[in-house]
Amino acid sequence: MQFEAISIERLSHRFLSRNRPPTTALTGVSCDFPAGKVTSIVGPSGCGKSTLLLILRGLMEASEGKVQFLYRDGSGNRRAGDPPRMATVWQSFNLLPWRTVLDNVAFGLELEGVSAGERHARAAEAIKSVELAGFEKHYPSQLSGGMKQRVGLARGLVMSPDILFLDEPFGALDAQTRLYLQEQLSTVVERSGKTVILITHSIEEAIFLGDHVAVMTARPGRIARTLDVDLPRPRGIDTQNNKRFGELFTEIYGLLRDEVRKSMLN
Ligand SMILES: Nc1ncnc2c1ncn2[C@@H]1O[C@H](COP(=O)(O)OP(=O)(O)OP(=O)(O)O)[C@@H](O)[C@H]1O
Ligand SMILES: [Mg+2]
Repeated sequence: MQFEAISIERLSHRFLSRNRPPTTALTGVSCDFPAGKVTSIVGPSGCGKSTLLLILRGLMEASEGKVQFLYRDGSGNRRAGDPPRMATVWQSFNLLPWRTVLDNVAFGLELEGVSAGERHARAAEAIKSVELAGFEKHYPSQLSGGMKQRVGLARGLVMSPDILFLDEPFGALDAQTRLYLQEQLSTVVERSGKTVILITHSIEEAIFLGDHVAVMTARPGRIARTLDVDLPRPRGIDTQNNKRFGELFTEIYGLLRDEVRKSMLN
């Protein structure tokens, strides 16, 4: 069976609280995230992006609607099945303070029962891919915010997931490191054909890395529009000079501007 898409239908979520009115985070979100593609999600702060991610990862149940992982079977029919292998780079890095960088990155493999030799070798490789070689024995408290974020990224990559969820993976990085890692990630993604869902506040990043950009409205969030990023791959630093890049930026910013203003009044 070939994995084809994550399909979400009329997803809504309300957070209930004992002493406050409920918060509606998502309302009627319907969207397909196609396999082997990068879908970037942009939207104003608080519109429900991380909530959507928790639901997609099966860590929280939506108040309404459904999430399905769709496969194409041998006879060409589409049907829902179990989720494929998934990994997440969370917005707050969630590193374990008592573990070294190496053991933080190897943690997921350890839970899967991968032998010490193999998990350390794979973790070291992932650490190298985020340019942190030499920091394997450091503890999280000895790292800068940007370095912690890169450990978080390595922890996702090491799992060789079919679907990689990234929640603001570059938010804490300085502009140059961010650019560099965006390029690295773009190469990884282009080579591996992974399905990636990338949440970001940066319109440039959404376009640079994405095959599609889903633009969300202010809370309660729904997907206002999904745009195709018809820019050639492989992409690199020159991509930003492409005329089409500028057009997409203007279009997405136009959609977001009103939503950001609404979110400030919310
Ligand atoms: N556990 C919770 N209990 C109550 N309300 C919550 C909870 N988690 C999130 N919310 C509310 O749901 C809304 C959406 O939150 P969410 O974290 O999904 O936003 P976001 O789009 O990821 O924002 P940001 O871009 O700032 O990360 C917000 O109004 C938030 O206050
Ligand atoms: Mg968030």
